[in-house]
Amino acid sequence: MTHQDVLSGGQPGAAARCTLVTRWTPPTATERGRYLFTLTNGTGERLKGFRLAFCGPARIDLKAPAPDNALLLRRFSNFTEVAMLGDGVVEPGESWTFLIHGTQAPLRHFTDAARTSYVTLSNGKILPVDVGYSVSDAFGAGEPKFGYDEIGPLGDIVDGLALAPWPANVKVSGSRAAMPMSVATDGVEQAAAVNAFRDIAATVFPQHIFIGNGLQAIAVRLQKADLAAEAYRIVFGETVILSAAGEAGWLYGLITLGQILRGAWEAPDACRFPETGQIDDAPRFAWRGSHLDVARQFYPIGEIRDLLAIMAWNKLNRFHLHLTEDEAWRFEVAAYPELTAVGAYRGADMPIPPLLGSGPEASGGHYSKADLKALVATAGAWGMDVVPEVDVPGHSYAAIAALPKLRDPGENGEYLSIQGFPNNCLNSGVPFVREFAEAVFAELMDIFPGKWIHVGADEVPDDAWETSPAAKARLAEIGGGGWHELQADFLKRVYGQIRDAGRVVGAWEEGAHGGGIAPEGSYLVAWRNAAIGAELAAQGYDVVMSPGQAYYLDMARSTDWWEPGASWAGVSSLQHTYEFDPLDGFAKEHQGRMIGIQACIWSEPMSDRRVFRRLVFPRLSAIAETAWSQEKNRDFKRFVAVARFLPYRPLED
Ligand code: ACM
Repeated sequence: MTHQDVLSGGQPGAAARCTLVTRWTPPTATERGRYLFTLTNGTGERLKGFRLAFCGPARIDLKAPAPDNALLLRRFSNFTEVAMLGDGVVEPGESWTFLIHGTQAPLRHFTDAARTSYVTLSNGKILPVDVGYSVSDAFGAGEPKFGYDEIGPLGDIVDGLALAPWPANVKVSGSRAAMPMSVATDGVEQAAAVNAFRDIAATVFPQHIFIGNGLQAIAVRLQKADLAAEAYRIVFGETVILSAAGEAGWLYGLITLGQILRGAWEAPDACRFPETGQIDDAPRFAWRGSHLDVARQFYPIGEIRDLLAIMAWNKLNRFHLHLTEDEAWRFEVAAYPELTAVGAYRGADMPIPPLLGSGPEASGGHYSKADLKALVATAGAWGMDVVPEVDVPGHSYAAIAALPKLRDPGENGEYLSIQGFPNNCLNSGVPFVREFAEAVFAELMDIFPGKWIHVGADEVPDDAWETSPAAKARLAEIGGGGWHELQADFLKRVYGQIRDAGRVVGAWEEGAHGGGIAPEGSYLVAWRNAAIGAELAAQGYDVVMSPGQAYYLDMARSTDWWEPGASWAGVSSLQHTYEFDPLDGFAKEHQGRMIGIQACIWSEPMSDRRVFRRLVFPRLSAIAETAWSQEKNRDFKRFVAVARFLPYRPLED
């Protein structure tokens, strides 16, 4: 195994270690998929009476026949532990091969397979295992794809301007030397816009100086004008005049000027800084967002700040921060320190085992209130609102693991979420659940003062709470029904609390089930498919479109095994994401309820930042252009020609 072949877990060759390689044979009409594992003992000592654990997005199918040549000890979501049969031994230099018959969904990309693994010896000692990139019989040998191959000059750079999103109206001519800008401001609002631009630019392109002073500079003057809040006008001339109604418009105008400069510096033959002319611009949609799932993988606050700067450069204005999940709870709650002490970390023999490529050592993290308040302040200065999400009542395994009082002690059966978490939904019949939700949302609203609070509401399994006496008693109190009514009973209280605080309630589309989230004072994110958005708008809901088929950035870019990502919603090439029409299917009279669109950065497959980079960029910019630019101005070829000038992180390939 070469260094290239190793995903994680140390330096191959530095110490004698075990290695694990996996091979996937897709299912046929008559046979289940075959998931073959080979563990090779490189330790120099015989292995006997040990357990082998591994995790990665694929989940073993509990209904499949028992594995060949292994004993299945535990399957918890995508964490699996097996042992050799009988008195099996793996001598130094030898291998153990076993076969698992079927996974809950077929593996379609190398990132679906086991990403991390370890051996637990009979004395409890843990040995890390190096894991190779999985191979599929349907594709054969290959190399994981991490870099860009879709960015290139497919079309022409229109008007010599390296702009994305493309402005509403552009009429420019001539060109002048592209020098840093010297910006004259009048008053605190204008100074704030310039400072925000300076911070954003220094974060995304530290190699450039956009704002200088002195003679070698393009003079820019900011001016007040009667325009919409995010609109701006640039009039090019000896002095460039940037007009807007306030901070947001000036900031977007400065970003436009910054993009023009970057193009002129990076590609002087194709791009220019205009001498005369005018740009008039305003966004198409009010909601231009990206979500980030910080629960499946943990992103330190500095990385989130980098993403915010990239979002701002793309003129996005809503950051949906997905803070809690089955796999982790990430924000500090003073009333329940256990939520982060227990729920923010996973590892071998911990309440939450390694998942989705985390290793045996305790790993994870959480954000303090101070971290989050600082993030909100940064976002605000950069023209963005942070929309925090605490995902309830489903997706709550981490919270329940941290606070077992959230369970109904009388519940004697087990239901599983789609991701394989047992009994992971907050139960409306448990009095402590009500107290908990009230305290958590009160603290959340204290940290996040913005207009929108997102409550999740997705993917409660159909058989949730079926064996809970407390749930049955609550159902009797509220007049009967099933899990929809119990979910709605829970959500109505949370909705009431957030509305009473003067905020707007966000939820995934399932928030409508049983009338839990009312159309007034709310918005729903349509995610399972595009048609649902149109249906919810017809029911009177404000809708944000993020259908998995186009805007879920965890979906792979093609069906190639060597493309990272998932594909339960299909695959999305850059062109597919770009060309998707978010208003398709909306009746004319309901189109006004489609308040905008957002990318969703679900991080299940993103245990490696190179995977994050390939999946997120430049598709994020494609979504940003759909969100901002007028429909008539969208042009995939022009977008591709300039996408290479846009920022992306992390920088390593
Ligand atoms: C979701 O993807 N479960 C909203």
